[in-house]
Amino acid sequence: MATYKLFLLPGDGIGPEVMGQVRRVIQWFQDKGVASFELDEGLVGGAAYDAHGESISEDDMKKAMAADAIIFGAVGGPKWDGIPYDKRPEAGLLRLRKDLALYANLRPAIVYPALADASSLKKELVEGLDILILRELTGGVYFGEPKEITDLGNGQQRAVDTQVYETYEIDRIARVAFELARTRDNRVCSMEKRNVMKSGLLWNQVVTATHKDGYQDVELSHMLADAGGMQLVRNPKQFDVIVTDNLFGDILSDVAAMLTGSLGMLPSASLGAADEKTGVRKALYEPVHGSAPDIAGKGLANPIAMIASFAMCLRYSFGMGEWAGKVETAIANALDKGYRTGDIMQPGMKQVGTVEMGDAILAELETLA
Ligand code: IPM
Ligand code: MG
Repeated sequence: MATYKLFLLPGDGIGPEVMGQVRRVIQWFQDKGVASFELDEGLVGGAAYDAHGESISEDDMKKAMAADAIIFGAVGGPKWDGIPYDKRPEAGLLRLRKDLALYANLRPAIVYPALADASSLKKELVEGLDILILRELTGGVYFGEPKEITDLGNGQQRAVDTQVYETYEIDRIARVAFELARTRDNRVCSMEKRNVMKSGLLWNQVVTATHKDGYQDVELSHMLADAGGMQLVRNPKQFDVIVTDNLFGDILSDVAAMLTGSLGMLPSASLGAADEKTGVRKALYEPVHGSAPDIAGKGLANPIAMIASFAMCLRYSFGMGEWAGKVETAIANALDKGYRTGDIMQPGMKQVGTVEMGDAILAELETLA
């Protein structure tokens, strides 16, 4: 049996609590003899800043580089609001994405049958929803230079962020979109703002050209990103795979996440290029939600997004798609039985905390083993 090296970075706020439930799932796999994992744990975000004055240490960066997969919790919180910009908690996450070249961010938004009522949209609009937002993650305005605030000397300051994309960055994310679409409903909608941005124009042209280069079996459409946001809340089921840039992807994926009832439900995978020799991709798995400082440490957090992120890790890093499916079914079954954390609580259901939700999911997994 292969042994996979997992590097856990729980981070801040509810990160450590939800990671605790993933540890239990990992342990379950070990106990069953299904897979063997070697675990190491590091600090990221505010936790790393408090310990070493950096949002991630060089030592932990090395471990992240050497791992088969990184399982990431969440970073940030009001405690670190005042610290220097380059040391803020989010910088640790951005450095991991950039240095590991994790350019493809998969954010699936699915509505579990039991939760169709929990969405802020009408049930019929979201029931059975299964879309995938593919967000470019290492380019665009997040990383473009210059990125600065300069003093104009007249009492005014000037802030600049740079939105920049090169052909290869758009081409490679478009390829991932088409490949993923083929495993689903075979449709890709590309979103940009070509009506006001040069980077949007190039995005549109490159996606179109890449489509012609071997992906014509996939249905491709284009939408302006603002209209795309509107369509996501008007009729979300029209989409299959949405491919978009780093900033639009950040925003549109939060919108898509909320269609499912709670941010606490959605996992994500961030993947790098496949290694030419081994075919292995660097990968980081994290819930879409943040560190939720308001409920941190109270045992209330919803661990589903974190556990579902681990399921994505089984699927995309370790080729254990069938087991990933079982973890996802266990989540759906626990919801069917009425277990709800506070964020997805509905009348007549059984409100539980983080650990009890973990218990319920593990109990369901056991019946599927
Ligand atoms: C996300 C988050 C991050 C982002 C923050 C924490 C830097 O919002 O992963 O969506 O903006 O990418
Ligand atoms: Mg975000």
